[in-house]
Amino acid sequence: MAYATLVTGTAERVATVTINRPEKLNAINARVKEEMRDCFQALKSDPAVDVVVLTGAGEKAFVAGTDIAELRALDAASGKQFAAGGQALFDQIERLGKPVIAAVNGYALGGGLELALACHIRLASERARFGQPEVNLGIIPGYGGTQRLARAVGVGRAMEMILTGVQIDAQEALRAGLVSRVYPAGELLDRATQMALLIASMGQVAIRMALKAVAVTQETPLGEGLKLEASLFGLCCGTKDFAEGTRAFMEKRKPRFTGS
Ligand code: COA
Repeated sequence: MAYATLVTGTAERVATVTINRPEKLNAINARVKEEMRDCFQALKSDPAVDVVVLTGAGEKAFVAGTDIAELRALDAASGKQFAAGGQALFDQIERLGKPVIAAVNGYALGGGLELALACHIRLASERARFGQPEVNLGIIPGYGGTQRLARAVGVGRAMEMILTGVQIDAQEALRAGLVSRVYPAGELLDRATQMALLIASMGQVAIRMALKAVAVTQETPLGEGLKLEASLFGLCCGTKDFAEGTRAFMEKRKPRFTGS
């Protein structure tokens, strides 16, 4: 489908979604949100897609936040709705049921960092910068940042970033566990795509179960999480992919997974 603010493409079971407002550093406005909702709904049910790579157009920004020009019109009631709407969109991405890799190619500020946090894996270019600068505008993060950043880097670090609004660079984000890899800017998208292809080459039932099992750690006590892990492990053991994966190992060849 053609979008005004997104560029999308699919090759070898990997979809790439690029937020495309480089003249505004890919700031998220109402149109971007509407198109992202449509796009991720389509990706969820697209049988040709197993993994998604999400990035920003241009060399400067992943996403420099929600569009401040649109924020200005909010009041107490519409602000609450605005935050709930953004949260729902980012929940939709987190619960896609397929891995989403954020390739953070520049500024990931405010809603941009919150968007990256809703993705399952975060990779950064050496140029990436991360921050929750909302306090500079007299607001707090409203698209999940107060919750997901604290879960990603710990309460103390998240509190510092959210209370000061100060940005951190890619190496600091790596040390904080906010991203799992940092690459030279020119390599980032290729590396993210390679990782996506590697994930797409696995048995997709196992990938979906793994996604579910790891995701619940954010909201489930250990005992319940372990029970869920055992159930999902059992489900995997009933699949053709499991029979094929173990047979291929014994026969010293690459498995031919079918996703069933
Ligand atoms: N919302 C709306 N427009 C934005 C934006 C945002 N979050 N971030 C950047 N832009 C726009 C700028 O207004 C500018 O538009 P213009 O050329 O029409 O004036 C354009 O994108 C380029 O940004 P500019 O500020 O000129 O680039 P810079 O390199 O000097 O600074 C930043 C880059 C990221 C430091 C700066 O743009 C910034 O602080 N952005 C806001 C970040 C923020 O507070 N995000 C959280 C919002 S809740």
